Amino acid sequence: MKNPSSHHFTKDNPSTPIYGSLESDHVLPKKFMPEYSLAPQIAYRMVADEILHDSNPRYNLASFVQTYMEPEAQQIMIDTMAVNAIDKTEYPQTTAVENHCVNMLANLWNIRESDSPIGTSTLGSSEACMLAGIAMIFRWKKLAKKHNIPLAKLNLVVSSGVQVVWEKFCVYWDIELRVIPMTDFQDLRLDPKQAVKKSDDYTIGVVAIMGITYTGLFDDVVLLDHEVEEYNKTHAISLPIHIDAASGGLFLPFVNPLLEWDFRLKNVVSINTSGHKFGLVYPGIGWIIWRNKEFLDEKLLFTVNYLGTSFSPEFQLNFSRPGSQIWAQYFNFVRFGKEGYKAIHEKSKDVAIQLSEQIKQMSFFHLLNDGSNIPIVCWCIKDTPDKPKWSLYDLSEILKRSGWQVPAYPLPANFKDVIIMRIVVRADFSRDQLSLFLEDMKSALEILKKQETYVTHPNCPSGFNH
Ligand SMILES: Cc1ncc(COP(=O)(O)O)c(C=O)c1O
Repeated sequence: MKNPSSHHFTKDNPSTPIYGSLESDHVLPKKFMPEYSLAPQIAYRMVADEILHDSNPRYNLASFVQTYMEPEAQQIMIDTMAVNAIDKTEYPQTTAVENHCVNMLANLWNIRESDSPIGTSTLGSSEACMLAGIAMIFRWKKLAKKHNIPLAKLNLVVSSGVQVVWEKFCVYWDIELRVIPMTDFQDLRLDPKQAVKKSDDYTIGVVAIMGITYTGLFDDVVLLDHEVEEYNKTHAISLPIHIDAASGGLFLPFVNPLLEWDFRLKNVVSINTSGHKFGLVYPGIGWIIWRNKEFLDEKLLFTVNYLGTSFSPEFQLNFSRPGSQIWAQYFNFVRFGKEGYKAIHEKSKDVAIQLSEQIKQMSFFHLLNDGSNIPIVCWCIKDTPDKPKWSLYDLSEILKRSGWQVPAYPLPANFKDVIIMRIVVRADFSRDQLSLFLEDMKSALEILKKQETYVTHPNCPSGFNH
């Protein structure tokens, strides 16, 4: 070993310790791109250190989005990271695998023999919902032309529980968002009768949700389908139902296959889901499927000529995007099969039920969802004369001290003054993790009992959307 004093801790000396290097002794650039390069190991360490300022995704209990994949799944993602999914000629197997996933999903969602489904992967449910909405506009226009109905402002009927993507869709495409407020605190879901009552000749469709973002509850699609069926008997332009199954779409087929919400119901024309939620893939994948080509105007399908060859039609808002998420989804389907998904999801459900039982015993809380439909547990503080001085915002702040992210947020319209907390029990939130969380929750309540000052309600008008 050389005498340490003979070391020259310079830029080009590979034995220079990272934190002893000149380069590590600078603040990373924020506005202007640096003039000079950094050695990769130093650049890696410095950038990776900035990641530490984010919370640990595994401790983010509010998120639906996957935070754990097996090493083999990660390897598949690394193997396909350089694949651009849109280059269908160059990467035909990626297109084939995407189609396999579409077929499997259509079958999981009980497509009928007589249907000819069409679908695509997307970056998430948001892109999928946008595509669903655009397809509904084009379908409406085609039918309006056929029935000589003059063009006027179109509308989309939704409940006040919809995710923000539907508001965005209506703003971007100049559609009236016709909101049916959720009025019954004991049943915070779409009122199917009201939804149909509020529909008219200019309604492009009705959205039902399987896994309302705020609470995890499911809309009653059987009743909605029945109401829509009656409406359709007397209207020239039939009312299509789109199911936003961002979270339920890859949960229900395994855990509650008898619940009817999908293509078994006649008026359901399209369904979306997030592969990165209960599909168990890291963020960046969603899916949408239409029951038949008639619900997706062919004007919306583009066959792009690329490198001199034409490739199969596509209908997406993005062009280039990673193939790795598609491969990861296919990997999970092959790896887990129905049996594996069922085992994972049933376990998450059991953990969620155990969590809700514990929350209930903490006496301050009223449960809005006990996790028995989908592993989402959601609660508010009971509105009683002896309710505590602290709020769920205070609880959220104290839980952060142990690393847990459990945000508090208001319910939508009609119940905006009700503050709730939601935990999504993901596959990697084991019973052991739950036991750690519960200990921290109990200590947090002890701290709150003694605390003198409280957080005032932050300005959080639009709820929590992910
Ligand atoms: C019901 C619903 N729709 C759409 C979305 C948007 O999904 P994504 O994050 O996959 O774009 C979410 C996200 O939580 C959701 O809960």
